[in-house]
Amino acid sequence: GTLRDEHGVWIIGFSLQLGKCSILEVELWGILNGLSIVQEKQVNKVLVQTNSLEASKAIQVSDPMLSRLTLIRRTHHILKNIGNWIIECILKKENIETDRMPKITFNKEEGSPKNLKNYGSWALITGATDGIGKAFANQLARQGLNLILVSRNLNKLKTVSAEIRAQFPHLKIKVVAQDFSGNLSAGVGLIEEAVKGVEVGVLINNVGITYPRAMYFHEVEEEVVKGIIRVNLEGTTWVTRAVLPGMLNRKRGAIVNVGSGASIVVPSHPLYTIYAATKA
Ligand SMILES: NC(=O)c1ccc[n+]([C@@H]2O[C@H](COP(=O)([O-])OP(=O)(O)OC[C@H]3O[C@@H](n4cnc5c(N)ncnc54)[C@H](OP(=O)(O)O)[C@@H]3O)[C@@H](O)[C@H]2O)c1
Repeated sequence: GTLRDEHGVWIIGFSLQLGKCSILEVELWGILNGLSIVQEKQVNKVLVQTNSLEASKAIQVSDPMLSRLTLIRRTHHILKNIGNWIIECILKKENIETDRMPKITFNKEEGSPKNLKNYGSWALITGATDGIGKAFANQLARQGLNLILVSRNLNKLKTVSAEIRAQFPHLKIKVVAQDFSGNLSAGVGLIEEAVKGVEVGVLINNVGITYPRAMYFHEVEEEVVKGIIRVNLEGTTWVTRAVLPGMLNRKRGAIVNVGSGASIVVPSHPLYTIYAATKA
């Protein structure tokens, strides 16, 4: 479900893993959950929109059979507390964003991990020599994907490549030394060259930098601001543009942009605002 304010602006989206149940139950769970959030926010007027005529009727019409359902009773209880409510049935096409939420949140094949090789036999990882990027590289190698590792430092790239090759000798690994805060078009050219003729099915846009310490917006030096925008935003954009055409041609591929809690958990992450903006 999604919650919007009186101007239609998105406040929050939510998903629930329900297991097996009827479509009516799914709709009712969605409404009940939305209303629970509304209640916590102490809202006193609510418009409930659903594309299920059945759910809308089940809540409005007093049907002794349905009223016995715990879901309906709990929904009525919350609606009574809110006081001022209307429920309306909308067309499915007007509800597309909400309908897609579970598909985005839950993998249909939960329990059976995806075979990433189905996207293509290669993965490209930026910022692959340390931290999260290195972990991605190792995990993707474990899945049997050949790798293109991208980072600034050629020696570190060679070391990581040798470590992975020692564990997975059958894999092919290419390295691209590229400083995303430097000459981007030259670096992206090298990446375009590296992806030519190989099926890159997984792209991990991982490279990312931030400030050396917490700072007010005006305190951040110009060069640091430029570096963060270039690496986090422009790097991600242009690497994607270099890899995407092959995926489109093959009609398959997966792109992961590594974000940050900085842009979600604490809105705009005070004292790291430029970093947070590049991770939005
Ligand atoms: N760590 C966290 O707590 C955290 C939390 C939320 C999100 N993230 C995000 O996760 C991603 C990875 O973070 P991390 O902490 O794992 O990073 P990290 O340990 O600092 O590693 C950064 C990687 O990026 C490469 N790199 C740095 N600057 C570069 C540049 N200018 N050009 C090319 N490569 C560069 C580094 O390799 P070289 O030195 O060889 O270039 C290294 O491989 C980032 O996007 C970050 O924003 C991290």
